[in-house]
Amino acid sequence: MKHLIDIKDLSIEEINDLIEVAKDIINNREKYSHKCDGRKLATLFFEPSTRTRLSFEAAMMELGGNVIGFSDSSSSSTSKGETVSDTIRVVGCYSDIIAMRHPKEGAPLVASMKSTVPIINAGDGGHNHPTQTLTDLLTIQSEKGRMDNLTIGLCGDLKFGRTVHSLITAMTRYKNIKFVLISPKELEIPEYIKKEVLDKNNIEYVETNDIEEYMADLDILYMTRVQKERFFNEADYIRLKDYYILNKEKLEKAKNDLIIMHPLPRVNEISTDVDEDKRACYFKQAEYGKYIRMALILKLLEVE
Ligand code: CP
Repeated sequence: MKHLIDIKDLSIEEINDLIEVAKDIINNREKYSHKCDGRKLATLFFEPSTRTRLSFEAAMMELGGNVIGFSDSSSSSTSKGETVSDTIRVVGCYSDIIAMRHPKEGAPLVASMKSTVPIINAGDGGHNHPTQTLTDLLTIQSEKGRMDNLTIGLCGDLKFGRTVHSLITAMTRYKNIKFVLISPKELEIPEYIKKEVLDKNNIEYVETNDIEEYMADLDILYMTRVQKERFFNEADYIRLKDYYILNKEKLEKAKNDLIIMHPLPRVNEISTDVDEDKRACYFKQAEYGKYIRMALILKLLEVE
């Protein structure tokens, strides 16, 4: 049995296969509409979500399967003190595959050790979000037509932004990738990502707090929200939350074929006047999320 806890659980060949299946699903929806007849996905969300949970549920339904689960753990027996391990053992009796989001880093890994069905990490604390990364990779491949020779600007909360950590880890496996890490000092990328991912793989990167400094060099600008829920001190959040607001003026020097990505939800970090720019692809990115999750469900359930 295979789980998806970290993007490194998948080889580059497996990721490329998932992207190809997702593209085939986009072009041949009917062909896939009964692939999961009689199968059940459980979505266990111990933290709020719109895109991840609903795209997983839509993905399973479009494959012909059914969905059970909860979007608010206070309505589950967690509120009575049940452990994650016990919850997982029980939900495995009712479902064929589980997508789980949890505020504690490592909770999906613990769940996978006890589970009788595949576990998908749908986001664990400030740690990882591998299905967002698969979504991002499908978006990059579809919109840029390549996964190599890219300069990627990552902007905003690089400290707590788990999508950024997973995306860096994934992109270092492709050729000639450069990163521009744009954040205030307080929200810089964690040291372990610099040392164990970037330096270890000899990846070129620069750090800046100026969103416009390297704008002309970027092939991809990946904006992120300041993660309010990870702050211990509200005053710090208020001071940092509007540090970056991308608008038309800030894009003046950007390439014509730049793509602007954002895992969403957006708060203030992209002005709505950017939404009409042909380079904005964050809503399309959210749609790609459903197709790559369909491909992932098929793979983990070993459906041909
Ligand atoms: N991108 C993402 O994880 O969004 P949700 O928190 O709405 O699932």
